[in-house]
Amino acid sequence: MTTTQRWALITGGSSGLGLACAKALAPEFDLALSFASNSDRASAEKDRLQQAYPDRRVELFQENLNGWESAHRLFGRACETFGSAPAVLINSAGRLRDGLYISEPFQTHEAMIQEHLVVPMALTQLAVKEMYREKWGRVVNVSSVSAKYFKRGQVSYAAVKSGIEGFSRCLALEVAHRGVTVNVLAPGLIETPMTADMIRHLENEKLLRKKIPSGRAGRPDEVGSLVQYLCSEAAAYMTGTILTLDGGRSLGDASL
Ligand SMILES: NC(=O)c1ccc[n+]([C@@H]2O[C@H](COP(=O)([O-])OP(=O)(O)OC[C@H]3O[C@@H](n4cnc5c(N)ncnc54)[C@H](OP(=O)(O)O)[C@@H]3O)[C@@H](O)[C@H]2O)c1
Repeated sequence: MTTTQRWALITGGSSGLGLACAKALAPEFDLALSFASNSDRASAEKDRLQQAYPDRRVELFQENLNGWESAHRLFGRACETFGSAPAVLINSAGRLRDGLYISEPFQTHEAMIQEHLVVPMALTQLAVKEMYREKWGRVVNVSSVSAKYFKRGQVSYAAVKSGIEGFSRCLALEVAHRGVTVNVLAPGLIETPMTADMIRHLENEKLLRKKIPSGRAGRPDEVGSLVQYLCSEAAAYMTGTILTLDGGRSLGDASL
């Protein structure tokens, strides 16, 4: 147990699921939130968090996470700012690039691998080395039900999300004895800027009820609560799990 204030590095922490994690972790951890390009949104969300938690330290880091070098740079900048390594790492940054596998240039698939697999693996290695030394740490990698419940146009998305699941579970095995947990969150459809158009379309076509047994998209705060638990002391014995949060979507077809 360290005496300094613990902090959490959250990639994609300025929007959607990453931001929901930031809000849920703010009562306990200082926050380093990374984003790629939308600095207006990032600053506005940082101000909101800071207002809600005046004693909390919240720092923003703009970094286009597209490979090992950018991951290394982000980690170095954040550690220098906080003067220590993060106790919590949430890997949430990433975009969708849907398109049929044989039609898309391979560079698109390669970019998915860098962004959704190489970056979280690199950040996790950097963070877990320190957590291992500290004998305490929490890593949560954001996957998707799309790792197992496939959709046309998402071949590389399925590949990287399956990859992050295997990676996380095997790493959990290597570091569990040092108080470091590594878990995976596999959400279904959650209301975020990434899915706003998709949800509007499903609502207009009256398809939400058919596709999702719960009859609605999930809320970011529902993701936040789960991640807050995974990062707590209470969750010390939970590691290597894949937690699905999808309103029953991956169970099958909800229509008659
Ligand atoms: N929403 C869902 O229904 C859902 C379901 C399953 C899994 N997921 C997964 O959840 C994660 C987050 O999705 P979301 O819905 O929260 O998306 P979102 O609302 O679009 O937020 C994405 C965040 O990641 C940042 N980001 C995107 N690409 C980046 C890059 N190359 N380098 C650095 N930062 C980058 C964005 O920064 P800027 O705003 O500056 O671009 C933003 O902060 C993704 O891994 C996604 O695959 C989402």
